[in-house]
Amino acid sequence: MWCWLWESIPSLTDIDPYSLAFAIVASILVICNVSSGVQLAELGRYWHNERREVDFHIVPAPNRSSGPSNNQSPINIETACYVRSNFVDPLQWSHYDDLPLGIRLENNGTTILLRAVFQGQIPCIDGGDLLGRFHFHEICFRWSWYNNAGSEHTVDNQHFPLEMQCLHTDTDSPDYTSSQSLLMISYMFSLSEDNPYLDVLVQHLATVQRAGQCVELPPFPLSYLMPPFYSNFISYHGSLTEPPFHRGAEWFIWPYPLAIGERQLNEFRQLRNAHGARISWNGRPVQQLMDRSVYFNEYRC
Ligand SMILES: *[C@@H]1O[C@H](CO)[C@@H](O)[C@H](O)[C@H]1NC(C)=O
Ligand SMILES: *[C@@H]1O[C@H](CO)[C@@H](O)[C@H](O)[C@H]1NC(C)=O
Repeated sequence: MWCWLWESIPSLTDIDPYSLAFAIVASILVICNVSSGVQLAELGRYWHNERREVDFHIVPAPNRSSGPSNNQSPINIETACYVRSNFVDPLQWSHYDDLPLGIRLENNGTTILLRAVFQGQIPCIDGGDLLGRFHFHEICFRWSWYNNAGSEHTVDNQHFPLEMQCLHTDTDSPDYTSSQSLLMISYMFSLSEDNPYLDVLVQHLATVQRAGQCVELPPFPLSYLMPPFYSNFISYHGSLTEPPFHRGAEWFIWPYPLAIGERQLNEFRQLRNAHGARISWNGRPVQQLMDRSVYFNEYRC
């Protein structure tokens, strides 16, 4: 025994400190995973009393939020599992460069909402594989206090610090009902230099720090915030991410993150909820993809 120990000490010191640290971290991770797997298994047994044997692979994860379980958003996007899709009808973005009559920013206690009124046509998108024309309705944002969390969607299990979701409906009336189709166009942001296009909005966040506060912004074209894209975007069929988790929302996700500076991100992190506390995270956890496909759409003329 002692001989073995003495023998192994010099060989341990031969190992470089990085691999040693790595090995320790790896074993801690393994231990944690095993114990959370055991917890899940316990829960699974609780739900399925008839099931006796413990099988880590078929135990369902606990429901993290109530609501319908099918076709829910957000999801994790696995870039290795894209279904490639070609379309020949180009996407048409109309009137996103128009100057609105007015833009209103509201802190509604869970997120920040941007709405706009237009003198002429409401900005709309059609073409591609879209079944109809979708009109701009409102923009909301998802963030958290941490740079490695915040976005609702994840790409290969990685969050972005901010996600901007632009809701579109298939009518141009200001209200929508459950019978209407929704298109959510979503952009991710990653930490970098300040983004001057975002300042038209970010510099006014301080005036809507408390829930219920609204401010009129000097108008700017929506294309400042929403750069149009024409190819190489992701789509899938999902839902709204807030109660009642309205189904029938088509998601378009622009997978190439836009820039946001730390200073700009911090303005979002100062926003407060209805209880006066700073909003620490306003996203819904990732939902299961189930039998849905995630498409990577390419325009072929
Ligand atoms: C999870 O939620 C779905 C939808 O509400 C429900 O049908 C299902 O039974 C729930 N699963 C568990 C284990 O509670
Ligand atoms: C805030 O706005 C979002 C997006 O429209 C909505 O889903 C949410 O329910 C609103 N929150 C409150 C407290 O009204």
